[in-house]
Amino acid sequence: MTTIERPRLVGAGVDRVDGPLKVTGAAPYPNDVSLPDLVYAAPVRATIAAGRIGRIDTSAAESAPGVLAVFTHLNAPRLERVPEPMLGPPPPPLQDDRITYYGQYVAVVVAGTAEQASAAARRIEIGYEPAEPLLDMNDPRAERIENPFGTDVSRGDVAAGLADADVTIDASYTTAENTNNPLGLFATVAAWDGDALTVHDSTQWPSRARAILAKVFRVPESGVRVLAPYVGGGFGAGLRVWPHVILAALAARETGRPVKLVLTRPEMFTGVGHRPATVQRVRLGATRDGRLTAIDHESLATLSIDGDNFEPCTAGTASAYACPNVSVRDRQVRLNIPWTNSMRAPGEAQGNFALESALDELSYELGIDPLELRLRNHADSYPQLGLPWSSKALRECYAVGAARFGWSRRGAEPGSMRDGDWLVGHGMAGVSFFWLQEPCAARATVRDDGTAYVRSAVTDIGTGTYTVMTQLSAEFLGLRQDRVTFDLGDTDMPMGVVAGGSGLTAALGTAVRAACRDLVRAFLDLVRDDPGSPLAGCDIDDVTVADGRIHRKGAPELGESYTGILAAHELTELTADGESAPPRPEDVGMAPAGAFGARFVEVRVDPDLGLLRVARVVSAIDGGRILNEKLATSQIIGGTVGGIGMALFEDTVTDAGTGRIANATLGDYLVPVNADVPDMDVIFVGDPDRYNPVGVKGVGEIGLVGLSAAIANAVHHATGRRIRSLPITIDRLL
Ligand code: MOS
Repeated sequence: MTTIERPRLVGAGVDRVDGPLKVTGAAPYPNDVSLPDLVYAAPVRATIAAGRIGRIDTSAAESAPGVLAVFTHLNAPRLERVPEPMLGPPPPPLQDDRITYYGQYVAVVVAGTAEQASAAARRIEIGYEPAEPLLDMNDPRAERIENPFGTDVSRGDVAAGLADADVTIDASYTTAENTNNPLGLFATVAAWDGDALTVHDSTQWPSRARAILAKVFRVPESGVRVLAPYVGGGFGAGLRVWPHVILAALAARETGRPVKLVLTRPEMFTGVGHRPATVQRVRLGATRDGRLTAIDHESLATLSIDGDNFEPCTAGTASAYACPNVSVRDRQVRLNIPWTNSMRAPGEAQGNFALESALDELSYELGIDPLELRLRNHADSYPQLGLPWSSKALRECYAVGAARFGWSRRGAEPGSMRDGDWLVGHGMAGVSFFWLQEPCAARATVRDDGTAYVRSAVTDIGTGTYTVMTQLSAEFLGLRQDRVTFDLGDTDMPMGVVAGGSGLTAALGTAVRAACRDLVRAFLDLVRDDPGSPLAGCDIDDVTVADGRIHRKGAPELGESYTGILAAHELTELTADGESAPPRPEDVGMAPAGAFGARFVEVRVDPDLGLLRVARVVSAIDGGRILNEKLATSQIIGGTVGGIGMALFEDTVTDAGTGRIANATLGDYLVPVNADVPDMDVIFVGDPDRYNPVGVKGVGEIGLVGLSAAIANAVHHATGRRIRSLPITIDRLL
């Protein structure tokens, strides 16, 4: 359906174009924004998890130094609730007296300085009418809901497949709640001019934020502008318009002053979502020679009382292996907890842990090498639709990764490998990752000084969007990279896709390509009827772009420069727009393959002390065309560190009595530090993907997936102990 412009798999490791701005502190993050007459807001959070606000006394706060206003549900303006089918905002804050989680905003103070605002916030007195909170997934009073997104899959007959099996596995796995914790504290600066609202925000999706803010405040969307040129990390925390964003805009509107609200780290734990906990059951059936006859995977994930999060833990299972009898089901249970939300590789991170652990268990029951078991069940075509994959190099991932790791030297028996007092274990996992496909738009301009300006209202959450889109724009326009500026993070630019779901590079890259091609067409239109131009009468497919010029294919001398054409027509610049929308699989006769991967891990376990060290990680990734080797490698390394965190450390602990998060600081919520992070080898394999004309797949999330299973499988190989609960802490290992 499409042609690949430059079918080289791995592009040059160009440095980040925004790197110097970031390391010198010149890059403006939302909490760096200052405006004339700026005032500051500090929220007050509920200290019960369920119930109602009984009495609220704001008088001491109102008379505190510097305070301009205090808003509670008693005096806040009524705002519109905006449900969305996906990634909608929580209900607007301060609308009634109902409390559904510990940490819910119950008031906001506006003052001349941030210190005055937070000091006054502590002087607000609230009497609660508490109810008994639902905090336990097994609480029979808690509402359980079916999959609202219709992604449950059933094919064949699982009961028959299990009955026909020579060997079966039936095991349950649990994963903990995790909190995204981008380093940059989320911040909002909101300013009104009549009905026009400008918001600087830590968002991964400015275009969506703009639409939602317009609806919540019932103002025209055309007057709302969202700016997010730099965001200090996301990992999913910036996918929604969270209540603190509304608080800032509400306070600005009511006080008539621009308002800045910067969350504290404890507020980040309750205010911008977190990964739900899961309990998963996996049943597998297989023949003696290792062919899967049945896969049954059910997940129960935590969900907040008002939440609309959907955690697709089992969806990937349905397409991961060639198996005739499959049933996967995602269920959720509503609890009095802060909003659960997507966190890097939502659902697949947890679901892959259960499935790939169960396959490891099956391999031991069968006496078949874990890698060989996966090869015997490789899904050569997309199992649900029977369509060919748009690309799939998973076999190559296994082969190249195993060779680099030295998998063939692994002793088969658990406990068979030692290094002094340490038990050594080798484990692996396969990954079939799926990505979000959404429409996107972009705009490209070439100016009479020979430079280009390309833009879209997306964000770069540290993934490298500025850089790879500069590379792509330069390629599509035939300009040197230093002649191209790619800009983003402003909703005055064309509608941008979400920086999430590993889908931005494909969607935006395709839109940038379309804009650049339309721009070249616009130049060709200018000279179409010019008998003096060597490009007269040319269509886009007749020409090539290089060195700031358009020339006839195969004839570099028959061309004109952009600047020459502009000058001849007395123009200062020329602009074109482009859009992208993913095709339907049925229309193009193939299934959109996300990235694939094979993860190989070596662990060391001290059985006396319960110490667990990840010693080596080899990751072989099929990410389609890799635009920038350096940045893509960084994505996989960063994801791998996140995977080590999920496997060994990260656990958002809710106090069972009160619903308060007990470890809501970076001192108490453990993440990997340098000493926990081993040598990580990343290899890219495969071909440019066929589903989009740029040939890319997303690599933003796959780096995290598979690590926890590979580590747990390696722990079993080292010790003979099967750990089915994350994180794998010392107490679980001893
Ligand atoms: Mo990611 S959880 O899609 O930001």
